[in-house]
Amino acid sequence: MGTAGMMSPDKLKQLFPAEGEIPAQFGPPAPVHQRSYLVNGQLKPWDGAVEIVRSPVCVRDERGNLRQIELGSYPMGGETEAEEALAAAVEAYDAGRGLWPTMTVAERIACMQDFTSQMISRRQEVIQLIMWEIGKSQSDSEKEFDRTVDYIRATIDALKELDNSNSRFLVVEGTIGQIRRTPLGVVLCMGPYNYPLNETFATLIPALIMGNTVVFKPPRFGTLLFQPLLEAFQSAFPKGVINTVYGRGSVIVPRLLDTGKINVLTLIGSSKVADHLKKLHPKAHRLRAILGLDAKNAAIILPDADIELAVKECLLGTLSFNGQRCTALKMLIVHQSIVETFLRRFVEELRKLKVGMPWEKGVNITPLPEPGKVDYMTQLVEDAKANGASVVNDGGATACGTLFYPAVVYPVKEGMKLYREEQFGPIVPVMSFDDLETALEYVITSEHGQQVSIFSSSPDQIGQLVDPLVNQVCRVNINCQCQRGPDVFPFTGRKDSAEGTLSVTDALRSFSIRSMIATKQTEPNKQLLDAIVSEHKSNFINTRFLF
Ligand code: G3H
Repeated sequence: MGTAGMMSPDKLKQLFPAEGEIPAQFGPPAPVHQRSYLVNGQLKPWDGAVEIVRSPVCVRDERGNLRQIELGSYPMGGETEAEEALAAAVEAYDAGRGLWPTMTVAERIACMQDFTSQMISRRQEVIQLIMWEIGKSQSDSEKEFDRTVDYIRATIDALKELDNSNSRFLVVEGTIGQIRRTPLGVVLCMGPYNYPLNETFATLIPALIMGNTVVFKPPRFGTLLFQPLLEAFQSAFPKGVINTVYGRGSVIVPRLLDTGKINVLTLIGSSKVADHLKKLHPKAHRLRAILGLDAKNAAIILPDADIELAVKECLLGTLSFNGQRCTALKMLIVHQSIVETFLRRFVEELRKLKVGMPWEKGVNITPLPEPGKVDYMTQLVEDAKANGASVVNDGGATACGTLFYPAVVYPVKEGMKLYREEQFGPIVPVMSFDDLETALEYVITSEHGQQVSIFSSSPDQIGQLVDPLVNQVCRVNINCQCQRGPDVFPFTGRKDSAEGTLSVTDALRSFSIRSMIATKQTEPNKQLLDAIVSEHKSNFINTRFLF
């Protein structure tokens, strides 16, 4: 594509395939009508209500009407099924006496390795479903799968390291101790639709491997892609260690929290929902929360920035996967003296982006999966226009069906929705500043505190900006876009953006707590410990080394 100058709704419509025009090798996949759910080690048959899954990809019929392709359906469980899943997880944990929480780390790792190889054998199916369920490009869907497998492997390595470092006794002030990380209990795990596999597994995998049991609710868009993995979950882990629930989050999740039996809530979603859910637990202090929440990351572009570099990074930052990343740049703050040049070059580069269907090679902008999202994008742009901003790129904000052509909106000001609302879509709000204080103020007064990008070639300026900004957000990206990776780096946020820290190693800590044995350093106690270790009497007290 890249012919935005002539952009029109009809042109967007023509980007959707006509019936029979989708190349056979790309699908759509054979419909997946999931009629079972995993609970207590069983794939239980389901004959109740189902939810129809529609792809954001539409087909054009002979009359030119668009129809979202049906991909299949999944069970619409309710409170009963949620309670059943919770009961299974509680039983498998068995107050910390269950098989899984008391297993040796080596045994848990073996289960995870088994799961990983089974998962890899379903790679193609999962990738196809990611692409079709959420409209992510094929290459990004492949990356998401492979990154997730790498994440699991890195997690296993990190756990070995962690466990090995705890495989010894400490003797302090006449007390012998051994300290290890132990599970927390039952984890309720909910991932987001934009990285349905990767971000879900970024919490699910560490939660499991640390010995917790899990109730897992797949994201609303991106549910079917877990279906090919259910058998792997079933066969790789002991019964009840992982249980799935489907249905309306607003019905199921409050019921689960209300029981007081959930020990950890892990959610990648909105701060509003997280606040609401946390309050439902009868003993709030017992609930640990690991949350990835809202973000409105800004890029601050200074007069001495390398404009070409800033344009390239900001384009990636704002529009990768249509801007549907929590780490996306959602506000560009450009110095007054360069804003014109920046916008001209930004718009020129934006025109080169390819709009199309997820299987097309080199595609950048694809259909949006959330119902009503295109209308919401339009409303945001209309609101900004009504308050004095313009769409500065030709054809920006043109919409048709589930496609929305990216809009660069300038100048965005306080009072417009785009100034603070997290658009989570293909809109690029731009504002200018004269005084650096204005740019800093934007970040300081924001409700969000995930990351920021700064563009400058001056050590002075960067130094001056970094010092206050690191205390406002949790990652300052210098001359590059915001992002989560590499996955070994800590991923977190301040204010409404996160609770807890995720990374390969941090996640292991987030889903566990240190527990220890301690005894006086006497001869009988030394002999006792020695016997326990040499005769392998405990899975906790041991000095084994994991290779
Ligand atoms: O949606 C939030 C993701 O964690 C962002 O990950 O920066 O690698 O795209 P990413």
